[in-house]
Amino acid sequence: MFKQGLFNNHRILVTGGGSGLGKAMAGRLLELGAEIVICGRRESVLAEAADELTSQYGGTVRTYGVDLRDAAAVERVVQAIWDESGPLTGLINNAAGNFISRTEDLSSRGFDAIANTVLHGTFYVTHAVGKRWIAGGIRGSVVSIVTTWVQTGSPFVVPSAMAKAGVDVMTKSLAVEWGKHGIRLNAIAPGIFPTEGATARLRPADNPHGLEKAANPTKRLGNTSELANLSAFLLAGGCEWLSGQTIAIDGAHSLANGAYFTAYSDWTDQQWAEARERVKAATDADKKLRSVAAPDSSS
Ligand code: HXC
Repeated sequence: MFKQGLFNNHRILVTGGGSGLGKAMAGRLLELGAEIVICGRRESVLAEAADELTSQYGGTVRTYGVDLRDAAAVERVVQAIWDESGPLTGLINNAAGNFISRTEDLSSRGFDAIANTVLHGTFYVTHAVGKRWIAGGIRGSVVSIVTTWVQTGSPFVVPSAMAKAGVDVMTKSLAVEWGKHGIRLNAIAPGIFPTEGATARLRPADNPHGLEKAANPTKRLGNTSELANLSAFLLAGGCEWLSGQTIAIDGAHSLANGAYFTAYSDWTDQQWAEARERVKAATDADKKLRSVAAPDSSS
C-alpha cells in the first residue's frame, strides 16, 4: 500500500506506543522508515515493545517512561527527545484511559483519572511538541485517536466521551491556528479493534464482541493493520491540505448503530458489580507493571 522508505527522516512519537493500537501504528511507521519514540507508564512494557518492533522491522525505537497527567514530566520528556534524538516530525496521540461505569457510580477521582489522561495529557503533549515545531519552523503533523463517540456521545463511558470530544475540538481548533506554520492536525475515530487493554475495561463480560460483530455492516471487527495504514496515510506527505478532519474507521458501525454500550442499559446491579471487579482486576495487573510515579493529585 505504501512505498518503502516513505517515512525516512521522520521521527514520530506514539504515546501509549508500548501496547495495543499504539504499538501497531508504531510498527507500521517503523517498517516504512520512521524513527520511532514511544512513551507510557510501564517501562518494562515499552522496552519489550521496542525489542519486538526492532527485531521485526529493524530501525530505531526509543522509549520514555512518563505519566501524561504530569505536565512537567511531559515537558521534560519532550525536551529530552529534542536533546537526545532531534526534533520530532510527527505525533500520534494514542494514550488513553477508560473503563465502563454507570455515571452515577463514578467518583470525581474516577472522572479525573480518565479526563486527566485523555484531555489534559493529550493537550500537554501536543502543546510541548507544537510550540517546538513553531519555534523551529518544522512542518509537523499530529494524529489523535478519538472515537466515534465524539459524534454520538456514549453511555457508560461519559468521562471518555467528554474528553475525546475535547481532543476532537483541539484538532479542529489547532488545525486553524497552526495552519500558517504548516502544522497539520487530524484525528481517527476507530470502531472496535480488539486490544487487551480496551476489551478488559470496556467489555468485561464473556464473549465480548459477539453482538457488535453481528451488528457491524461488514460483519467483522477491525484489523489493527487497517488502523495503522490510516495513521500512516494521515502522517505522510502528499496530502498536506488535509487538516482538521476526524476520520472514522469502523466498517460504518456508528452510522448503522449510533453509540456503543447501549446494551448495558439492561444490566442489573449484580452485573455492574461483577463488571467493576473484572475491570479492577485488569487495572491492578497493569499497576504492578507501572514504573512511573503518578502526579501528585493535590497539585
Ligand atoms: C468505577 C473506578 C473504576 C471502575 C477506577 N475507578 N476503576 N470507578 N469503576 N471500574 C476509580 C477509582 O475508584 C478511583 O477513585 C479512581 O477511579 C482512580 O483509580 P485508580 O485505580 O487509582 O486510577 P489509575 O491508577 O490512575 O488508573 C487509571 C485508569 C486505568 C483509567 C483507571 O484503567 C488505566 O490506567 N487505564 C489505562 C489503559 C486503558 O484504560 N486502556 C483502555 C483505553 S480504551 P476513588 O474515588 O475510589 O479514589 C479507550 C476507548 C477508546 O480509550 C478507544 C477507541 C480506540
